[in-house]
Amino acid sequence: RSRERNIRILLNERLPKELVGILHEAGELADELEQSIYAVGGFVRDILMDTPNLDLDLVVEGDGIAFAQALGDKLGGRVRAHRKFQTAVIVLPDGQHIDVATARLEYYEYPAALPTVELSSIKMDLYRRDFTINALAVQLNKSQFGRLVDFFGAQRDIKNRVIRVLHSLSFVEDPTRILRAIRFAQRYSFQIGGQTERLIKNALGLGMMEKLSGSRLFNEMCLIFEEKTALACLRQMRDLRLLSAIHPMLTLSPAQEELLEEIEKVLEWYRLLYLNHAPRSWIIYFMALANGAKDEETQSLAERFNLTPKQINDFLALRKQLNQSIYHYKMWKHRKGPLSQLCFQLDELPVEGVLFFMSKFKQEATRRDLSQYLTRLKDAELDISGRDLQLAGLPEGPAYGEILKKVRAAMLDGNASCREDQLNLVRKIIKDPAYIGLEPHPRTKKD
Ligand code: CTP
Repeated sequence: RSRERNIRILLNERLPKELVGILHEAGELADELEQSIYAVGGFVRDILMDTPNLDLDLVVEGDGIAFAQALGDKLGGRVRAHRKFQTAVIVLPDGQHIDVATARLEYYEYPAALPTVELSSIKMDLYRRDFTINALAVQLNKSQFGRLVDFFGAQRDIKNRVIRVLHSLSFVEDPTRILRAIRFAQRYSFQIGGQTERLIKNALGLGMMEKLSGSRLFNEMCLIFEEKTALACLRQMRDLRLLSAIHPMLTLSPAQEELLEEIEKVLEWYRLLYLNHAPRSWIIYFMALANGAKDEETQSLAERFNLTPKQINDFLALRKQLNQSIYHYKMWKHRKGPLSQLCFQLDELPVEGVLFFMSKFKQEATRRDLSQYLTRLKDAELDISGRDLQLAGLPEGPAYGEILKKVRAAMLDGNASCREDQLNLVRKIIKDPAYIGLEPHPRTKKD
């Protein structure tokens, strides 16, 4: 039986008002449609853990798609239904997603020993999930609002800080859960339970890792690389002999560990800047894991993760480009070159390349140059545009790009910091293109 508890107060305390409003609306709608409705999974786990998680997953005992469409209408969102799986996604006007699933007994496959007839649909739905801490639900119907449904001892496991599976076939049914166990254990500083760890080893012994498809593996690795504790995950993967089961190249040498520690710091720093573009962390981690490996070895690792030929080529090209950038950077430093030169060279790299570069070189001066580039120079915009060149009477042509680049260089070097100075420079160049080594442009009417 589920341990009864109502977490209405926690919901109010720990969630934004609008989201609590949505929970109430969902409950009232389900009442009208005579369905039971629950919020489930990571959303509930994170309320109990008091870590913010706004990704709402709903399970309806009844017709989930009809429910999603009605709730989508009510909230002014768009609804995408997947009839085959009886699921739907509501996309709210602010971009927030709500996943809606249907709990229907007849759809489930279950271990033969289980007396299924006696289980409610929500219990069966929760039983199929990965870990006890993810198998929680909160009912949202009005008369039951906030009722916590915990059939499998999730509250006890959260209190004892352990990751536990719900049944012994869990990892065999879905080997990605091995990686998920590690990811959650590191994220929340939980232990993997003794029996659960034995089941992981057992699944590894059965070669489940080798059977896991490259794209599912890659997907899970990307999730790990988005975690602040990615390196701890990799270490635990090594200790469980998971890394070598994925690919013999993944040894996690001491040098790699040191590099990965730096990557973690650099990524943490970069995330704190709250810039618009989130880096693709996996590229940076892959660079570290393939650091020092030959192209053929790297290719074989990439193939294990089912990367596309384009992804592999881009990755190898990035590695090559990075070596050039490092070389140019050293020359620039040696010659005490202007900032604009550094900037144009680093513009050749995607942001992941610059972040890896930063991770690789610990010297303070290098870090300062690169962080200056990322925070101040990379996205610095001119105060003028092509339109100003047009107004100054310059005929359209390739000179536009070159002139703007020159003005940008002047700006980066602090020689044309405001619009007025930039316009003056443009006029000077148009009058005398040789000033920046350009061919004279054809005469215009104004001339
Ligand atoms: N789930 C599962 N087995 C998997 C993947 C997911 O049982 N291999 C279940 C879990 O119950 C999980 C839910 O599906 O809570 C939603 O999955 P996902 O969105 O990946 O998980 P979250 O728990 O929300 O994790 P995160 O905090 O990383 O988003």
